[in-house]
Amino acid sequence: MNKVIIFDTTLRDGEQAAGGTLNLQEKLDIARQLEKLNVDVIEAGFPASSPGDFEAVSFIAKEVRKPIICALTRAHPQDIERAWQAVKGAARPRIHIFLSTSDIHLIHQLKKNRDEILATARDMVTKAKKYTSDIEFSPMDASRTKPEYLYQILAAVIDAGATTVNIPDTVGYAIPSEFGKLIDGIFQNVPNIGKAVVSVHCHNDLGLAVANSLEALKRGARQAECTINGIGERAGNASMEEIVMAITTRKDFFDLTTGVDTRQIYKTSRMVSEMTGFPVQPNKAIVGANAFRHESGIHQDGVIKMPITYEIMDPRVVGIPSSSLVLGKLSGRHAFKEHLAELGYSMGEEDLNRAFTAFKELADKKKDVTDRDIESLVAEERRTVTEVYHLERIQVTCGDCGMATASVRLGGPDSKIHEDAALGTGPVDAVYKAINRIVGVTNSLTEFTVKSVTEGIDAIGEVLIRLESKGVTYTGRGADTDIIVSSAKAYMNALNRLLSSKKKTG
Ligand code: KIV
Ligand code: ZN
Repeated sequence: MNKVIIFDTTLRDGEQAAGGTLNLQEKLDIARQLEKLNVDVIEAGFPASSPGDFEAVSFIAKEVRKPIICALTRAHPQDIERAWQAVKGAARPRIHIFLSTSDIHLIHQLKKNRDEILATARDMVTKAKKYTSDIEFSPMDASRTKPEYLYQILAAVIDAGATTVNIPDTVGYAIPSEFGKLIDGIFQNVPNIGKAVVSVHCHNDLGLAVANSLEALKRGARQAECTINGIGERAGNASMEEIVMAITTRKDFFDLTTGVDTRQIYKTSRMVSEMTGFPVQPNKAIVGANAFRHESGIHQDGVIKMPITYEIMDPRVVGIPSSSLVLGKLSGRHAFKEHLAELGYSMGEEDLNRAFTAFKELADKKKDVTDRDIESLVAEERRTVTEVYHLERIQVTCGDCGMATASVRLGGPDSKIHEDAALGTGPVDAVYKAINRIVGVTNSLTEFTVKSVTEGIDAIGEVLIRLESKGVTYTGRGADTDIIVSSAKAYMNALNRLLSSKKKTG
């Protein structure tokens, strides 16, 4: 009764965020991590939307066996068929049908009347029910739908077999007390509501997605749809870590539980940020870099005396690694492997060997190697892109007395070594131009950011870039103690994504 079902839609609504495309391997890695986090449902994609989504849902359905795997579909017979084909290999498959119900959408977008929509909703749930017993229905734009009509639709789809009815605040328009009343109204006015789980799906356009979700849970909803780091369409979705930690930290208030293993939260957040290329803002609740940092002297004094004075959560509960020195130059492979395991990383021998070599190189350059450095290093080793070109070496000359020059050496697809050089307005420009001379694909750089992983002049610098080619955005990341090398690695990472997607699509 008091357990909240955590429905993670990072791979569907989260991936819908502009510029957040993931490749198949990354989707699978995230799904496996979500399984470790112990979410109840993973919405793996929208199979009819693209062959890539279809493939990802089928793959995850077969590989990730513990949670329910859900496929989203429009209320169209062919799309439902496609959703089923993709998800049918799951241990516990779910089909999630959505259909707009607000007058705004009916009049301006669908050009259908309420009776037609009601009939479609009922018929499509009946159709999907032939494939699986686990059916979710979402009346899209529910928070702007006339409540009486919403009650009617919900009663009809439950009658047709929907086992979860989801109430989306699609455009992030709701206010918590008002959204809470809508949930009360549903419980009071939908006669068969006891036969379905009430779910909520809130967007963050007014910054209220988590507040609205929590209000709904307080009023009896028992499924929360959310994403890691709150990523998603426009301003994003309700953030999973915030919902889960609010419920956990304020158990006295909510009297609810979740099955989430909170110690996996930080790692999942880092993984999603790393793979989608969406950085987490420093002041982000729960997982931001400053979320557990105390700057004021009075606060520091209090925390040293007794953490509870200014810390409402123990950072270890969400799996935040310490930033103290953990390993040094003399640490062996065994200690390195054990430490990785403590941080929750398990690696095959080959990956481990590569990560250990990278660690030794780092320890030679950097005095203190912390958990954060190790995370960055592991992410670097795990960048799951098929390498068409491989960065072998770069050499740069730059300064304020002439143009920057760069020479690069790349390993090519034909196992040949390619070398070239270029001039640029700065070192990064010169490196990118030299790489372009070899790789030869037209693209434009749309985003470039660099940040340091830890404090200190010898810190690792992580570079995130986005480039665009033929209207498609590709993300690239690279890390090194030399930020020009990080920049080159990030560029190669994005170019390899571009080249391997080209290969796939012919
Ligand atoms: O925001 C929304 O309404 C959705 C539905 C498909 C559930 O994402
Ligand atoms: Zn949504």
